[in-house]
Formats: sequence, structure tokens, C-alpha cells
Amino acid sequence: MILLPASEFTIEELTSAYNQTRTDYLIPMPMNPARLHEYILLFDVDLDASVVAVIDQTIVGLGMLGVRSETGWITRLGVLPQGRRKGTGSGILQALLDQAKSKDISSVWLEVIHGNEPAHELFRKFGFRETRELIVARRPPGTINTMMAVKSAHKVRYLQHDEVLELHCHRQEHMNWLNGVETMRNVGLLTSPYFDPASVLGRQELPQLAGIYVEFLHGASGWVSYQASTLQLKRICVEVVRGEPTRTTAELLELLHRLHTSQDAVIENIPDDECWLGYKQAGYFEVFRRIEMVREPAAPDNS
Ligand SMILES: CC(C)(COP(=O)(O)OP(=O)(O)OC[C@H]1O[C@@H](n2cnc3c(N)ncnc32)[C@H](O)[C@@H]1OP(=O)(O)O)[C@@H](O)C(=O)NCCC(=O)NCCS
Repeated sequence: MILLPASEFTIEELTSAYNQTRTDYLIPMPMNPARLHEYILLFDVDLDASVVAVIDQTIVGLGMLGVRSETGWITRLGVLPQGRRKGTGSGILQALLDQAKSKDISSVWLEVIHGNEPAHELFRKFGFRETRELIVARRPPGTINTMMAVKSAHKVRYLQHDEVLELHCHRQEHMNWLNGVETMRNVGLLTSPYFDPASVLGRQELPQLAGIYVEFLHGASGWVSYQASTLQLKRICVEVVRGEPTRTTAELLELLHRLHTSQDAVIENIPDDECWLGYKQAGYFEVFRRIEMVREPAAPDNS
């Protein structure tokens, strides 16, 4: 087996290999080249530091490394089903960790789907430890049965992309890689008029971020930001600035879904906290959970 930089392969080859590693995956998540390209740009995947495993000129597995200053993120790791349990996954993971080390990355993060024991075991073996559980949830489009937020909203300010970014810059909470301010900045780059999405990403919609900042009569305040396409709301983030987290989250989401009644909504990687109860009150249901893990530099090398 040889390990080659992912930058030596086309997006089409990487997409096809990734899809083959996931044919028996717990949650089907096939990608197409445009989506994988968007994923690479949004989440700062470094293709020179990402790895493809090849035997006899055939791809048998791959893994990618996201890089943001001193932090790394492992993603898209997979081995084709017929080649598993022969050390390929370990080889790819070790190569990604070596790349991280050579870039002076101090901590490497990843997520593994709850119930994916082979991967969870592999990551534990390499010194990753669990930090928290994160929820992926959806909300179908539909009517809102409460007028709570409408009655209690005192001031509502509609936010443009740059105002949303400014708010993300000042978030206190430790955000997961997918929802970090860097991702939001990258949404801005991808949707900028100077970026040519049609040439790289195909003819998909790339709307900018939007948001609403609300002050409520009961003294609470907060904001919700999102990316709205014709069919879907994604990259939804809620921040409760003041007030009771569950109620404020539910009311912010009620106002969001009053503005966007026809779209399906997706949230990814939010913690299981009081705000999640507010999401549930607003009609979201859990689809699956991920376990977030981190490997600090002091973690022992696997052998
Ligand atoms: C997870 C995955 C990448 C492991 O690849 P692999 O080539 O089989 O891994 P290795 O042969 O290097 O195994 C290394 C260690 O991982 C763990 N592991 C691998 N498969 C396992 C299984 N089926 N059950 C339990 N532990 C397992 C073991 O600790 C193993 O060490 P051991 O063989 O000495 O017991 C592979 O199963 C895969 O591609 N799964 C589907 C995609 C996926 O889940 N990706 C991770 C997303 S977070």
C-alpha cells in the first residue's frame, strides 16, 4: 500500500472513492463532486495534507485533514469494505496525524457517529478522547402553532451577511468545526461576486448568511443566523444573549420559521443542552448524534 497526497487526485476520483467507502455506512451520506468541493472549501480541508491509500493503482481508502491555524480536523476517513481490518485505516490516520504534527497543529478534532464502533475504537486507540455529544436534527416545513414570539418580540432587526459574521466572531461558546466562525467566513468567500461558483461548484444556489436579532418584552435577547436556499435552511445558529435559554431559543426559531415557512431546516452538531430543548419546542427532531473527540499533543503515539 502507498499513501499519496489527495491533491494528486481529481475531485471526481476523490468523490467516487469516498462514496465507495460509505456503501455500508450507518447513515447514508453520498456526495457528488460539487458537494465535496464545497465541503473542502467551507471546512478548510487541505488536500496536500490529506491522504489517499492505493494498492496496485486502485484507491482502497482515504482521509482528509482540515487546518485552521493551530487546530486540525480529521474528516472523510474511510476504507473500502473489502479492504478493512488490514491496517489501512490506521495507516491513513497516522499519516494525517503526522501531517498535523509537521504543521505544528496543537489539537486535532473529529466527530464519529454514535454507534460507529469500528471508527470509535480506532480513534480511541490513537489517543482521541470524547469531549461531548452533538445532535443533527431536522424540521419539516409547516405551520407554527404558537404566537408566543410574535406577542413577546419587542424589537426585531434583520441582519445582513457581514453583521452575522460580526456576531459569530464574538461567540463565547466553543463551536464545533462545522459551525465555527471560519466556516461562516468561508460561506462569505464562496458567495462573493469575485468567486466563480459555476466553474467550480456547478450551478447550485449559494445564498449568503442572513439573521435576525431580537429583543423580547420579557427582557431576553438573542439572534439566529442561517443560510436560506429555495428549499432548505441550513447553517442555523442560535445565540441567546440574555434570558432563559430554552424559551429564548424556541422564540427565536419561531420567528425564523415564520419568515421561512416553505423550507425544510437542518441543524448540525449542536450540543445537548437547554437550547436543544428550545429547538425541540420549535418542531425539530433528532436524526442522529455524533461524538466529538479531540487529540491533544500529549496523547501517546499509537503503536
Ligand atoms: C473505521 C475504518 C476507517 C477502519 O478502517 P480499517 O482499515 O478497517 O482499520 P484498521 O484495520 O487499521 O483497524 C485499526 C483498529 O480499529 C479498530 N477497528 C477496526 N475495525 C473494527 C471493527 N469492525 N470492530 C471493532 N474495532 C475495529 C480496532 O481497534 C483495530 O485494531 P485491531 O485490528 O488491532 O483490533 C473502516 O471501518 C471504515 O472505513 N468504516 C466506514 C467509514 C467510517 O466509519 N469512517 C469513519 C467516519 S468517522
